[in-house]
Amino acid sequence: LEVLRTVGDLLSAGTETTTTAIRWGILFLLHNPDVKNRMVTEIQEVVGTSRFPTLNDKESMPYSEAVITEVIRKANVAPLGVPHSCNTDVEFRGYTIPKGAVLLLNLDSVLCNPEEFPDPDKFDPTRFLNKNEKSLRHEVFAAFSVGRRACLGENLARMELFLYLTTILQRFDIVPENPDFLPSLEGVLGVTHTPRSYNVRLVSRQ
Ligand code: HEM
Repeated sequence: LEVLRTVGDLLSAGTETTTTAIRWGILFLLHNPDVKNRMVTEIQEVVGTSRFPTLNDKESMPYSEAVITEVIRKANVAPLGVPHSCNTDVEFRGYTIPKGAVLLLNLDSVLCNPEEFPDPDKFDPTRFLNKNEKSLRHEVFAAFSVGRRACLGENLARMELFLYLTTILQRFDIVPENPDFLPSLEGVLGVTHTPRSYNVRLVSRQ
């Protein structure tokens, strides 16, 4: 039973979140053709068309990696993290948090903090690149939370996002169904933060 529960936890924590991030990613690329085109150029230069992208390409593709980190930041899939509770009374900055109180983390306030991410509403992957255009990991990046109970699926999620988005873009152009009307960037906030359902055209590059 323990094993079944653990597998169930991994599946439920891992599928909805990553699917949601991929759906946001396609939507952001639809709204930002310049970003999409720069990513396509990198895919063509590093991978070409004769084979699919693999995880070995990740390191040589800093722009695509930066796009994925920016997708994860803007998607804000779990803006309140996962609820925790105190197992003893805790004093923190003059507040008493009683034993048993439910604690929600405001990860959103970190991911959208204008001091760390200037113009936070903007979809801008270059905020995760340094001057040499090599990947730069942002120290306060908190989409997967922090500390001992932080998301254990971060690497898997990054791998999946990398493979899905680069492979789709290698084979297809992502264009709006109606060029005069882009689907809304406004999400729906529940346990996770999801985009509204939208249609998109994938045009084969062959
Ligand atoms: C973009 C994708 C994902 C995001 C944004 C995300 C985000 C998070 C966040 C914010 C937490 C809460 C951490 C805390 O309590 O402080 C969490 C926990 C967790 N995540 Fe993810 N996650 C993602 C993908 C995945 C994947 C792919 C897996 C599984 C393979 C996974 C498995 C888990 C598990 C098991 C926990 C609970 C960890 C614990 O309580 O010790 N997540 N995730």
